[in-house]
Amino acid sequence: MPSPILILNGPNLNLLGEREPEIYGTETLADIAAAVETAADALGLNVEFRQTNAEAELVTWIQEARGKYAGIVLNAGAFTHTSVAIYDALLLCEQPVIEVHLSNIFRREPFRHHSYVAPAAQGLICGFGGHGYVLALQAMARILDSDAKK
Ligand code: DQA
Repeated sequence: MPSPILILNGPNLNLLGEREPEIYGTETLADIAAAVETAADALGLNVEFRQTNAEAELVTWIQEARGKYAGIVLNAGAFTHTSVAIYDALLLCEQPVIEVHLSNIFRREPFRHHSYVAPAAQGLICGFGGHGYVLALQAMARILDSDAKK
């Protein structure tokens, strides 16, 4: 079995479904996790899906991912726009990182246009709601496949 993909979610994403549905939609995080599981099965990947409201926990999970997970899909929520600590942790990771946001952060308030995650990520998917996680997993599968052939 190849190493699993770690899918990390930051603050307030536990309240998807009730949180600003006009921006984030009505899907819950559990709905997204289920769709990701289905996509992972189809791609022959294993995934581990987690959420935390704490910056320190996200940093620790990213640190611990080194050597254990084949890749990281990260929606750091608001920490995207504030956290040098998450950026530094991502720089320690040698595996591919894909940044995800449900909303199109570039169509929103200017403070959301800057991401500390982006310079440490292979790519960024935003604006497609929960489906963005499935797109990220598909992109991750391609990256891992082409890396395996090198
Ligand atoms: C978000 C966008 C962030 O700006 C915001 O703070 C979030 C969610 C998204 O998925 O669209 O919490 O990461």
